[in-house]
Amino acid sequence: MDGIREPGLRKVESHCSMAEADDFDLSRLLDKPKLNIERQRSFDERSLSELSINVRALDNYESTYSPGFRSGFDTPASSARNSFEPHPMVAEAWEALRRSLVYFRGQPVGTIAAYDHASEEVLNYDQVFVRDFVPSALAFLMNGEHDIVKNFLLKTLHLQGWEKKIDRFKLGEGVMPASFKVLHDPVRKTDTLIADFGESAIGRVAPVDSGFWWIILLRAYTKSTGDLSLAETPDCQKGMRLILALCLSEGFDTFPTLLCADGCSMIDRRMGIYGYPIEIQALFFMALRSALPMLKHDAEGKEFVERIVKRLHALSYHMRSYFWLDFQQLNDIYRYKTEEYSHTAVNKFNVIPDSIPDWVFEFMPCRGGYFIGNVSPARMDFRWFALGNCVAILSSLATPEQSVAIMELIEERWQELVGEMPLKVAYPAIESHEWRIITGCDPKNTRWSYHNGGSWPVLLWLLTAACIKTGRPQIARRAIELAESRLLKDGWPEYYDGKFGRYVGKQARKFQTWSISGYLVAKMMLEDPSHLGMISLEEDKAMKPLMKRSTSWTC
Ligand code: GLC
Repeated sequence: MDGIREPGLRKVESHCSMAEADDFDLSRLLDKPKLNIERQRSFDERSLSELSINVRALDNYESTYSPGFRSGFDTPASSARNSFEPHPMVAEAWEALRRSLVYFRGQPVGTIAAYDHASEEVLNYDQVFVRDFVPSALAFLMNGEHDIVKNFLLKTLHLQGWEKKIDRFKLGEGVMPASFKVLHDPVRKTDTLIADFGESAIGRVAPVDSGFWWIILLRAYTKSTGDLSLAETPDCQKGMRLILALCLSEGFDTFPTLLCADGCSMIDRRMGIYGYPIEIQALFFMALRSALPMLKHDAEGKEFVERIVKRLHALSYHMRSYFWLDFQQLNDIYRYKTEEYSHTAVNKFNVIPDSIPDWVFEFMPCRGGYFIGNVSPARMDFRWFALGNCVAILSSLATPEQSVAIMELIEERWQELVGEMPLKVAYPAIESHEWRIITGCDPKNTRWSYHNGGSWPVLLWLLTAACIKTGRPQIARRAIELAESRLLKDGWPEYYDGKFGRYVGKQARKFQTWSISGYLVAKMMLEDPSHLGMISLEEDKAMKPLMKRSTSWTC
């Protein structure tokens, strides 16, 4: 979205204090190149209708592709040159992030999940997780350190090529690992890799999100460096196609959303997110949109492009229509008739109004709305999930009106969703009988802990990105201040517990890498909003609002 770099722009940004940046019209700032440069549209901005009419239009995306802005954020070493005085935590965070680096044959290939020496139980926190590496990768890209991201993309691509088996069952070719580890043999002086595709993971959960994050990161790398050659290599093209083949395959589905087992993403334990979890649907959408312009247009590539375009249309319609909840929509569901048969049904999924939980009536503000957790026959999971909603904003799965409404909800329900530590992974917690049934009595996921209503500092970067995209940097700033009052002092915990996120999590790791890198990314994006381009996609005009009711927020 940021197109060609305007020489003067970075200077303006890097000399602007955070307070001054408030006065900036951030959307104008982000769009600035448009004002000054008669530029060609970058690949993100092409409409899907253009694509479906003329798929060949993308053949020469190379010529219209332009690198994103390089970071205007100084590393701790050079910060003295900048009038912007970074928070002392920033230097500490960089140091901690560098300590988490993992090397393979001398090359950095990722960051370890947590560098917590005090913890007795290492479990798999000594591994490089694909999802955990994303904020680290963004921090490195924003700091102009591209190689580690390239190495990571290539290493994981190599792992994707492995034959993957759980007992006697062979997994899909395109599956990307949840995590990997480098084994150093000091005697033989060799490094070897081991990877986990779910066959060792607790509960044998499937990392559905890994492949999506991989594609999203490949785009971020390409966008940030302007280096098209990596995405164009036959290996990367093949890797993308294998992931796409998995998630676009035909089956018995009646919906365009992707059917998943429980624990298939950041929430990697049983938490009642089986079915069509919002996190996966939003990442799926974003990965499809990210892959579209990176795919080559040979015969096979074109076929994928066509399938992606069709799926995006259906997916955005489905999500915007059926996952969206605001005051008006809640009222409509509350009054639903049931047992409707045929095409004329209003209550398409036969949701029984009695199944609406009491809390949601209280929680729903007059202004604002969000994508609910899950929709399937007779089931709406009304819980709010942070990651899915932020990714919906970043990928433009949410219409501009819906994006604004999500931000309004966060503001209106600040105490519940942010409280003392940004940000609740899910809201509200499930308790008592429901907790027993839904989590299988999981002692890690007791109410208001861990995945069950815990607060995860890593989500700060996603919140910040969503704030910048919707032109509300002051919300991000408030959240960052909260994080700054605790994170370093508490040793960068993995998560916080309690209704308002006041307590360091029961079993939270310390020096959790994505808590560290998430903070850095949030800071760098706020300092230089043009970084947003590597992780955000503009609205596609061809998928313009399909439903009117989403705009009716007032009550
Ligand atoms: C936990 C989290 C998961 C994360 C992993 C490594 O299992 O639930 O999202 O990737 O730790 O940090």
